[in-house]
Amino acid sequence: METDRVRQSYASVADLYIELFGTRQQVHPDDLAFIGRHLGGARGPVLDLGCGPGHITDHLRGLGADATGIDLVPEFIAHARTCFPDGRYELGSLDRLDAPDQSVAGILAWYSLIHLPPQDLHGVLTEFRRAVAPAGTLVLGMFEGPEVAAFDHKVTTAYRWPMDELSERLTRAGFTEVERLPRPTDPRHRPHFAIAATAG
Ligand SMILES: C[S@@+](CC[C@H](N)C(=O)[O-])C[C@H]1O[C@@H](n2cnc3c(N)ncnc32)[C@H](O)[C@@H]1O
Repeated sequence: METDRVRQSYASVADLYIELFGTRQQVHPDDLAFIGRHLGGARGPVLDLGCGPGHITDHLRGLGADATGIDLVPEFIAHARTCFPDGRYELGSLDRLDAPDQSVAGILAWYSLIHLPPQDLHGVLTEFRRAVAPAGTLVLGMFEGPEVAAFDHKVTTAYRWPMDELSERLTRAGFTEVERLPRPTDPRHRPHFAIAATAG
């Protein structure tokens, strides 16, 4: 199953991933600012879905958000609970949220939808829309490309999306784009972007 493959792939490199990406200092300041601008002031629960090492969940909590980190990979959840003992981190999958309808003020899926087969994106966005309260916020980080296409990501197969197409998919699931942040490329990074949308 796709989810099992993703879990096993990240579990096998969890220590290295934490070392390379697991602190807020390793996140670009523009990205941190974007996330903070859209989710830091959320009035109600915020879910960081696919939180990995948990550093961005912790960042959001530092901004005053009632953030919970959720991830498939036990190694990441154990690390987050140890490093950020004041935070809440739970094992779980972003395609089946343990949250009542319209109960969360915001969702962050920061590079955690990149491994979803394109045909599964609508179901996941619909699940997010179910859980988010009216006018609640969704923030995504994604890889960018001229067409939807798989590529050989270092952990496991991932997909790049055109920004306009992703925005259209958000609309189809009941969200409205409010801001996008194309991220400049450099020799070390693939083109990528952040997008924020509100429910309704
Ligand atoms: C590229 S990492 C990003 C981690 C973190 N958001 C960050 O910025 O460092 C992708 C994360 O998404 C998680 N993930 C992928 N599919 C998931 C799913 N169905 N449910 C929960 N987590 C998932 C992976 O376990 C991994 O931690």
